[in-house]
Amino acid sequence: MVARVVPVAPFDLVVFGGTGDLARRKLLPALYYRDLAGQLPDDARIIGVARSDLSADAYRERAVEALKSFIPAADLKDACVKRFIGRISYVRVDVSSTDGWDALAALLKGREDRVRAFYLALEPRFFGPICERLKASGIVTPTSRVVVEKPLGDQLASYRALNAQLTHAFDEHHLYRIDHYLGKETVQNLMALRFANALFEPLWNARHIDHVQITVAESVGVEGRGAYYDHAGALRDMVQNHLLQLLCLTAMEPPGKFDPDDVRNEKLKVLRALEPIDGSNVESHAVRGQYAGRNGAAGYIEDVGANDSTTETFVALKVNIANWRWSGTPFYVRTGKRLRSRLSEIAVIFKDVPHSIFPAAAGAVRENALIIRLQPHEGITLLMNIKDPGPGGMRLIEAPLDMTFASSLGIKGLRMPDAYERLVMDVIRGDPTLFMRGDEVEAAWAWIDPILAAWETGHRRPQLYDAGSSGPEDALRLMHMDGRRWLEIEA
Ligand SMILES: NC(=O)c1ccc[n+]([C@@H]2O[C@H](COP(=O)([O-])OP(=O)(O)OC[C@H]3O[C@@H](n4cnc5c(N)ncnc54)[C@H](OP(=O)(O)O)[C@@H]3O)[C@@H](O)[C@H]2O)c1
Repeated sequence: MVARVVPVAPFDLVVFGGTGDLARRKLLPALYYRDLAGQLPDDARIIGVARSDLSADAYRERAVEALKSFIPAADLKDACVKRFIGRISYVRVDVSSTDGWDALAALLKGREDRVRAFYLALEPRFFGPICERLKASGIVTPTSRVVVEKPLGDQLASYRALNAQLTHAFDEHHLYRIDHYLGKETVQNLMALRFANALFEPLWNARHIDHVQITVAESVGVEGRGAYYDHAGALRDMVQNHLLQLLCLTAMEPPGKFDPDDVRNEKLKVLRALEPIDGSNVESHAVRGQYAGRNGAAGYIEDVGANDSTTETFVALKVNIANWRWSGTPFYVRTGKRLRSRLSEIAVIFKDVPHSIFPAAAGAVRENALIIRLQPHEGITLLMNIKDPGPGGMRLIEAPLDMTFASSLGIKGLRMPDAYERLVMDVIRGDPTLFMRGDEVEAAWAWIDPILAAWETGHRRPQLYDAGSSGPEDALRLMHMDGRRWLEIEA
């Protein structure tokens, strides 16, 4: 089976921060793969913009190095690499000054009928100045798009200030706020599963679902991002965006149609229905942890070199959604660094059968669970009880109904496209369905702020946990208190 590829319209994609890590590791490889798939029209161009004094050829050499570093050699086809590199040019612009903007305008001149996209792959403090200068230099066309990445603020007030800078220069429909989790194949499949099958939706509510667990576990530590991370912490860095977005897609009502605003309206309603966690209930609903060193490996404190840091590298929350569908069914979310494995999944745990007809000797009837795995091994598994095959009488065992995409579709070695491939093409297509609208980000911060405030005014430090474990003891207790337990963090 070959994936269907619909070429996008001709475009000029300007990558501010074109020499940076995000551009090298994610954007250039994603664009290369789309070129390889035949999705980029002949007239598509990529313009790297940064402060470094580079010729276009030197930048192209860096681009080739990036492809070699982040794409397996077997996928680097000479003809495609040549074609791809031929699309690339470079302009030196110091975005905090007026230098270089004329050269960028000159490069874009005469191509106003192409889709024009500006990807801001640099620090958010530059977003406002860049937007103003884009406007002032007359290179914004009516269909231009601006793409921005997290971190979008560090609390509600700073998000509002940043967003005001963006919306001062651009209308909402020009703005594409990326959360790359939304571009993951399985996340989109979650919507297909829920809304294209009659099977699950009647059961998708508090009457049939006991609880939902959302886990985003990393095995790595702060990896050179210590300065940023020590200011942010797991709640800001992961929960405010990725985990809340996953929660919204799991909990939202069916939208009227698969249309950007219909989908985002439904997600916004979920965010607005989240019960607050604040000083009154933070102890019973939120756990924060920090990894400690183990077996000679450095702990967080050593990693960031700040002895008194109270930054959390782990968060677990019990989230209640106050609406008819979910009242009484908690969503437990957790994320952390230096955990046992790298694993991201949504687990929907159904209620027990009302009564078991089987004798004790048959074994326990386990609750059904639908596991939507984002990484590694993207796929969906439904855990069912079946009879242990054979003549040995009625014995129940748990068996997975496996919908791992590569095996279900009969494709060996299927490469799952990276989220950025899908999302960058959506930007060019002008489809913001999988991007966060401004009011969603605002609602997420409005819910996060009281947790941050409660932690700041509380006296408890984050609980230490061993690197390589499943997180702090208190996170286990959060579930045990409700008579539940986390699934293992097992890749
Ligand atoms: N890396 C990721 O995977 C990732 C993922 C999600 C979000 N983000 C966010 O994306 C942003 C960029 O991250 P990054 O990791 O790519 O950072 P980075 O590696 O430090 O790259 C920063 C880029 O900004 C450019 N730059 C800095 N000051 C400039 C100026 N005055 N004028 C023009 N260009 C300037 C740099 O150009 P020169 O090198 O030429 O100075 C470089 O290309 C950050 O806000 C980060 O939090 C990154």
